[in-house]
Amino acid sequence: MSANHFIVAHFIVPGRTALITGASRGLGRALALSLAARGVRLVLVARGQADLDAVVAEVRARGGEAHGIVADLADKRAIYPLAGQAAALVGPIDLLIHNASTLGPTPLRLLLDSECEDLEQVLAVNLVGPFRLSKIVAGAMALRGEGVIVHISSDAAIEAYPRWGAYSVAKAGQDHLSRIFAAELADTGVRVLAVDPGEMNTAMHAAAIPEADPDTLADPALAAARIVAMIDDPARAPTGSRLTATSWELS
Ligand SMILES: NC(=O)c1ccc[n+]([C@@H]2O[C@H](COP(=O)([O-])OP(=O)(O)OC[C@H]3O[C@@H](n4cnc5c(N)ncnc54)[C@H](OP(=O)(O)O)[C@@H]3O)[C@@H](O)[C@H]2O)c1
Repeated sequence: MSANHFIVAHFIVPGRTALITGASRGLGRALALSLAARGVRLVLVARGQADLDAVVAEVRARGGEAHGIVADLADKRAIYPLAGQAAALVGPIDLLIHNASTLGPTPLRLLLDSECEDLEQVLAVNLVGPFRLSKIVAGAMALRGEGVIVHISSDAAIEAYPRWGAYSVAKAGQDHLSRIFAAELADTGVRVLAVDPGEMNTAMHAAAIPEADPDTLADPALAAARIVAMIDDPARAPTGSRLTATSWELS
């Protein structure tokens, strides 16, 4: 057995660059803080300027590098400028995390009571927007021969929960988008993952299930720590895998 057998290739090293969508609160904010603490240079995306600015300031106050870009993932004209601006700010993107997501109208409603336009809007944010962004960023990663793309999923991608229809359909589509990108990029050095973060105490959870006791829900910081560990561990989180944060053991 060679000495190299025990060398673990870590992906997350200081100076890496990451683009995180939906980084102004909840899991996206937690991922930003966790990655910044490891020296990753960040571009953070959301629609709301004030919350985004607050996270950028929080990262910088802790000595990290972060830049905010206000953009709506559902707006196709926003995606090329977003990718271009991100590259201008930090250089080529090493890590792309598709975290932004919408439930559609709340209270959640039955599919038969859903407007077609609501389904279209959910698909635009949760599936088509990430696809557009990956098309730009993954090509550049493949040319460089390395990179990681993470699709934040949900158990709703797998379970058929009544009233979660539009969101579930989009998440199921995103899971398969992840698998197919992984298969097509198999020999390029680009790793593509889907990760179910588990239930977390966030604004989205409160909007979906207002009666839930927040004290019973996980802190998004814990899910973020596990997702960062997955990104850093190609052996345990190989390309094409769909992982569940709650069953990931932190070493
Ligand atoms: N919370 C849970 O229990 C749970 C469980 C399973 C999976 N997840 C998944 O985990 C991820 C994070 O969820 P979360 O609970 O942290 O959500 P959250 O608290 O609602 O945060 C969502 C983030 O996405 C941004 N965003 C929403 N729509 C956007 C758009 N059209 N364009 C750009 N940014 C947009 C929001 O900012 P703006 O509104 O300012 O744009 C915000 O920064 C999502 O993919 C969600 O589906 C969550």
